[in-house]
Amino acid sequence: MRRPERIVILTGAGISAESGLATFRDKGGLWSKVDLNDVATPQGFARNPAMVHEFYNARRRSVLAAAPNEAHLALARLEREHDGQVLVVTQNIDDLHERAGSRQILHMHGELLKVRCEPCGKAREWRHDLATATPCPDCARAGGMRPHVVWFGEMPLHMDRIGTELAACDLFISIGTSGQVYPAGGFVEEARSHGRAHTVELNLEPSGGHSLFAERILGPATQVVPAFVERLLR
Ligand code: APR
Repeated sequence: MRRPERIVILTGAGISAESGLATFRDKGGLWSKVDLNDVATPQGFARNPAMVHEFYNARRRSVLAAAPNEAHLALARLEREHDGQVLVVTQNIDDLHERAGSRQILHMHGELLKVRCEPCGKAREWRHDLATATPCPDCARAGGMRPHVVWFGEMPLHMDRIGTELAACDLFISIGTSGQVYPAGGFVEEARSHGRAHTVELNLEPSGGHSLFAERILGPATQVVPAFVERLLR
């Protein structure tokens, strides 16, 4: 593989699994314990906001108690040492890429450590539990605060920028995602369709789109990601 200039890295829940954060579709994953329609859709939130707040309060506490792992740290090293652009596009709503030292990050599904007031639209950092009664610090209204995360049926964030970066990249790496949720599941084809990108999947097991990748490396992220970054930087 010739030396890449522009690297786009898509990450999913699998990169945070070894930091102790649950994935969604693995055995024992979040969606085997709770119905995503109840906690990850606007309809579910409208039906029972207290249950949705509790679901995200528990996940927020887990994120605050977790630490970045060797895979997150390796991607931050790649950004520091690679002579070219490195952009992390993450489906994850944790802040482990940030805490590992990555700077160029797009959270396409939002961020668990941010909340948004529906009535006034303001989003802000938030590291505490959230409840229906929590008043908005900006407009003082209660009842309208929600996690600043993208639910099913809502538009993922930063899609224009992501499309531009996929078209321009010459290396697309997918780490720790089942590739079952779109639009992220289609990014490998977007990167390939512009003809330039070499595509690599690093995952514990083959994802839904594994046959679309030019290269596949199977194993736990804390092992395969540092080794791949070492190879890129050599
Ligand atoms: N190392 C590498 N990969 C791993 C590890 C690990 N230690 N553990 C699990 N994986 C892989 C699994 O094999 C699986 O392919 O990570 C993937 C996790 O897939 P999902 O649970 O479907 O998570 P993800 O792909 O991020 O889900 C995408 O779906 O529910 C929505 O918004 C949610 O962002 C999420 C989106």
